[in-house]
Amino acid sequence: MTQQPIGVFDSGYGGLTILKEIIRVLPQYDYLYLGDNARAPYGPRSFETVYRYTLQCVQWLFAQGCPLVILACNTASAKALRTIQQRNLPLMNTQNRVLGVIRPTTEMMGNYTRTNEVGILATAGTVLSESYLIETKKFFPEVRVYQEACPMWVPLVENNEYNGAGADYFVEQHVSRLLQKGAHIDTVLLACTHYPLLEHKIRQYLPAGVRLLSQGEIVADSLSDYLNRHPEMESRCSRHQQVKFATTDSAADFDAHAAIFFGKSVHSLQVSVE
Ligand code: DGL
Repeated sequence: MTQQPIGVFDSGYGGLTILKEIIRVLPQYDYLYLGDNARAPYGPRSFETVYRYTLQCVQWLFAQGCPLVILACNTASAKALRTIQQRNLPLMNTQNRVLGVIRPTTEMMGNYTRTNEVGILATAGTVLSESYLIETKKFFPEVRVYQEACPMWVPLVENNEYNGAGADYFVEQHVSRLLQKGAHIDTVLLACTHYPLLEHKIRQYLPAGVRLLSQGEIVADSLSDYLNRHPEMESRCSRHQQVKFATTDSAADFDAHAAIFFGKSVHSLQVSVE
């Protein structure tokens, strides 16, 4: 069996914050990143649309040979992952697998809170899906999860306004709304792959002592654990330390913006997944 890269998918740029951490923890593998920039953002879209778009992108990554695809996008993980795993993969007659970011995060989240009150900052789509509430209950039934949708945050980051005064306005608004929902929240999760870019501002509006969690490291450690537990999958992943990037929109635009998320410049190819 030929070895192929691990696929990493996001609606756009945000998944690069996850990929960066995955490469830090697992530098030995090859990766193929796909951003569906032409159809981003996914956050405000319906379940049906997010599912359809995500499935097309997973099928494209499978067609490139990827044996394993990580949905490095909370919205896609919330609205499409379960259906793809339960409905589509069995019909494809494949040993390929698709993993998301919500389950590994909720498996860990309860370990950080002392008050058993956790706050979630996410897109409207992720909040409406209630995936974090449902999954957290499985692993930590004693933990109460409070959610706040922050629809302006992805556009602020995408439009390079995450350092500006406009960002302060919307960050303060949503952080204070979240804290009003749960008086004893001591752990706040950035449940959207774009939000690590706003981390410095979010911290300013959180009381000292509240822990702020980003998902990258959690997802990377969980993937490492998964590959240890699944040698049949690990043996299908190629190891040349190569990372390739694909986008459904302009490659020049992708390359111009990607460094903010990935930490260094990239060279992408424009592809069609439809
Ligand atoms: N990557 C998405 C997430 O983690 C946010 C961007 C979008 O709305 O497409 O939820």
